[in-house]
Parts: sequence; structure tokens; C-alpha cells
Amino acid sequence: MANRKIGMWLYKNGGGEKIAKKIIKKLQERDIETINNLSLHNCVSQNGHILYGDIKVDKLDLFFSYNAGEQTQYQTYLYQALNRLVPMINSYDAFALSEDKFHTSFVLNNKGVPTADYKLCHRDDTAALKKIIKKWDKMVYKPTDGWGGVGLTKIESEASLDMLMPFLNQMDLRYFYVEKFIKYDNTDFRVDIVDGEFVSCYGRKASKDDWRTNVTSGGSVFMREANDEIISIAKKATKACGLDISGVDMIYDLEKEQYVVLEVNGIPAFATPEQEKIGLDFNNKKIDLIVEMIDRKTNKKKGK
Ligand SMILES: Nc1ncnc2c1ncn2[C@@H]1O[C@H](COP(=O)(O)OP(=O)(O)O)[C@@H](O)[C@H]1O
Ligand SMILES: [Mg+2]
Repeated sequence: MANRKIGMWLYKNGGGEKIAKKIIKKLQERDIETINNLSLHNCVSQNGHILYGDIKVDKLDLFFSYNAGEQTQYQTYLYQALNRLVPMINSYDAFALSEDKFHTSFVLNNKGVPTADYKLCHRDDTAALKKIIKKWDKMVYKPTDGWGGVGLTKIESEASLDMLMPFLNQMDLRYFYVEKFIKYDNTDFRVDIVDGEFVSCYGRKASKDDWRTNVTSGGSVFMREANDEIISIAKKATKACGLDISGVDMIYDLEKEQYVVLEVNGIPAFATPEQEKIGLDFNNKKIDLIVEMIDRKTNKKKGK
């Protein structure tokens, strides 16, 4: 009989299912049982418990949540509740922080991690936007909860800001979040960190007709060596956000001559089978670090 039991919900596409199997096997070797595909979407809460069929999810030793694409609002609502009772990877607070670009930049700035210059203002405060584009020349409007480069809008002049304003006003937004447009070589670095340790680094290059490196915007993944500075910034950013697992996206600012963190992803994908073929071979290292961390975190609880 396993003496420890965890719940896991991991994405299935892009090789995810195979990753889950490996994790389950390695946990088993440490006497940790896994309830796989435990989607909070299929749970209910009543009388202070979160129920998955007969299983009381709040009695598990840990919950590992690793699915960005399929997360519903209901799930994040229960994620928050469950985390009051059970250790979660990532913790709800860190997860919620990493899902929001403003909150991430705010925290990183405060902790001395270089980011793009940003400004947040109320949607009525168009004067603030006009003032900042004068100073910055070019800026990027970003939805604070977006992904995949979707909704990012490059604003290249005061005139284009004037043109954009009526559209933004129509969208019934609560606020505007803008960043200074950084001059860079259209490539980025993705650095994965697990449990404070460096796992891997790779790069993405924007397609020739886009300024965004996202694969969903036509960008392509390539092998790329990290250096000490990049690793140290990624570790610092991860710690600042309180994340157990992270993928830190960085670009090199050609004007400031420094690396800046663009975003910290709380559910960075494992290498897909196609990416493994081009040499991204970090999956096993990442799995081992995750398993080790789950073992430690569930042990601590038993010891209490
Ligand atoms: N301030 C910026 N200056 C220049 N390029 C940027 C800036 N912010 C984002 N980008 C480009 O747009 C891409 C997507 O931005 P990001 O903030 O990571 O949003 P998403 O969550 O949609 O990926 C980045 O990978 C980068 O190539
Ligand atoms: Mg991004």
C-alpha cells in the first residue's frame, strides 16, 4: 500500500500523456500513488470538501496541476479553494501571479529583476497613454491575461495611438497595460526552472514578417545555450514569483544592453516529440526534478 497519494492533472497533447506515465512510474518507485487526470472541472465541493467521485481531493498529500490550455474559470476557482488545504504545484498564488502580465512585471520590478518598462492606467486616463508614448516612441499594448502573442498590438506613433483609442474604448476594458517596445533581434530565450534548479534553455525566432516570437505567431524553436547571467535572472524571477516550476521568457534589449524578462510561465510545456528530434532533450531531467520535489513536499507534510 502506498502511504502517500497525490492528484495530477497534466495536458495530454504534444507528448503530455507519455510524460504523465513516466512521472507516475517514478513516483510509484518512491511509494507515492498518483490519481491521474484528476480534473477539478469534474469535481464538486460540499461541506468543506472537494469531491472527485468518492475521493476527497482535500485529503490528498499534494496536487500537481499542469494544464494551461484546458483550464476553465471553474477550475481555477476550485484551485484556489483546494490550495487552502493541500500543497499544490504550483501554489495557487504563484500560478495566479504568473497568469497576469501586470502583476508579474510589478513583482519582478520590485525584486530587482529587469523587465520591459511598463505602465498601467485606468481606461479613462488616456492622457497617461499619450504622455508615455511621447517618452517611449513605440509601445506594445498587451491584454494582461493573454498568451501566444494574441491581442498584442504594437503602437508605433502618437497618431496610431489616436487611431487605436476608439477601438480600445469599445472593448470595455478596465485598464490599459502597455510596455515600452524593446529593440531586439527577434529571438528570445526560454529557460525552464524546477525547484530552484536550471533545467533547460532553448530559443524561439520570430518569422520574418512578425515581431513576436510565439510559435502561434509563426515563430520557430531552436537550440540555444544559456549563459550564467540568463540562468541567474531566470532563477531570480522564478523565486520572486514563488513558482516551483517555471519557464522564463527573456529577450536581449539592444539599447539597454541587458536581458529583460518578458514573462514567467507557470505551466511551461515539456519538449514535444518533434522538438526532441531537433535536440531539446531536457524532459527526463525535468521529470526527475519534479518527482524529487513532490517526494520532498509530501514527506514534509507527513512529518508534521
Ligand atoms: N515590450 C516588448 N517589446 C518588444 N517585443 C515584445 C515586447 N513584449 C512582447 N514582445 C514580443 O511579443 C511576444 C509575446 O509577448 P508576451 O508578453 O510573451 O505575451 P504572450 O503571453 O502572448 O506570449 C514575445 O515573445 C516577444 O517576441
Ligand atoms: Mg510569451
